[in-house]
Amino acid sequence: MISGRNILITGGAGFIGSNMAQLLHERNSITILDDFSEGNQGNINPLTGKDSVTVLKGDITNEKTFDKLKENFDLVIHLAANSDVRTGSEYTGKDMDINVKGTYNVLEFMKRKKIPELMFSSSSTVYGEASAIPTPETYGPCLPISTYGASKLSNEGFIWSYYHYYGIRPVIYRFANIVGRNSTHGVIHDFLGKLKKNSSELEILGDGTQEKSYMHVDDCIGAMILIHEKTREGEVVNLGNAARTSVRRIADIVCETMGLDNVKYNFTGGFEGRGWKGDIKIAQLSIDRMLSHGWKNSYGSDESVYKASQEIYKQRTS
Ligand SMILES: NC(=O)c1ccc[n+]([C@@H]2O[C@H](COP(=O)([O-])OP(=O)(O)OC[C@H]3O[C@@H](n4cnc5c(N)ncnc54)[C@H](O)[C@@H]3O)[C@@H](O)[C@H]2O)c1
Repeated sequence: MISGRNILITGGAGFIGSNMAQLLHERNSITILDDFSEGNQGNINPLTGKDSVTVLKGDITNEKTFDKLKENFDLVIHLAANSDVRTGSEYTGKDMDINVKGTYNVLEFMKRKKIPELMFSSSSTVYGEASAIPTPETYGPCLPISTYGASKLSNEGFIWSYYHYYGIRPVIYRFANIVGRNSTHGVIHDFLGKLKKNSSELEILGDGTQEKSYMHVDDCIGAMILIHEKTREGEVVNLGNAARTSVRRIADIVCETMGLDNVKYNFTGGFEGRGWKGDIKIAQLSIDRMLSHGWKNSYGSDESVYKASQEIYKQRTS
């Protein structure tokens, strides 16, 4: 466990960030930096007023935001990003502005302040449509098929350069699909929202056969911390699960969560059966490196979806 540190969490009011802040705040000093574009106050309400937690509203694309951070941080957990892969083909500049420029600003801040360590949330989308499945960290060439994936790959390059130039030690985590409480969007939300409006029919983007590996947020943040603490050099590591869950199976799980039977599924067919342009149909990361660091997930892929569906449904209905 990380303890006794002064930590900046960008995107700390978002899904993964708020879960991370919740876990770390008791043993560390935490500063949450978020522009609240996707994240929300509700996610961090349990932390409000705690002595160990500071919340700063600010935009990482604006360099001046960082002037407001006066602390001496030991570690940055950089999670702030445009996290929505789906809109890339419509708004091509968003990933460039928020993810590329924003991450550059974070790195420049770390350089100026001589902050030695970085945990960074990259993504399975950097691999593009990989021919090797499960995809290991050594796979290449990485050719993303979304501007989101392209922005994360660019981030990785900048981060590794700053490691080489200035010794800022990174652990780059390439996440599969992370699910759980406080999430802000994604397939489970999409289905819960649609079924709330109409509980007899469900529109499913694509042909329903898309398969990805899902990891519960508790496993994700546990693995991040363990691997960061065990590693002394820069590292790139996939975080995911050994199995995959299809979109159709997720629909079944969400219907079960809501106690719904006989829901008629309407598949949009999408672009080549994908949910949207840039969607990868089959994504599964090799998790051998994660396992070699000693992390073992508590929940499998289906189990993670099931647990997340219950958690999100509870949050949406309470
Ligand atoms: N959830 C997943 O399945 C998944 C998979 C791969 C990678 N990631 C990455 O993990 C990180 C966290 O993702 P998440 O699922 O928690 O998403 P999220 O959208 O819930 O969290 C991102 C947070 O960043 C904040 N943010 C966005 N733009 C900002 C800006 N310009 N300045 C300051 N804050 C800004 C948002 O308000 C939000 O709170 C992201 O970098 C995302 O790309 C997530």
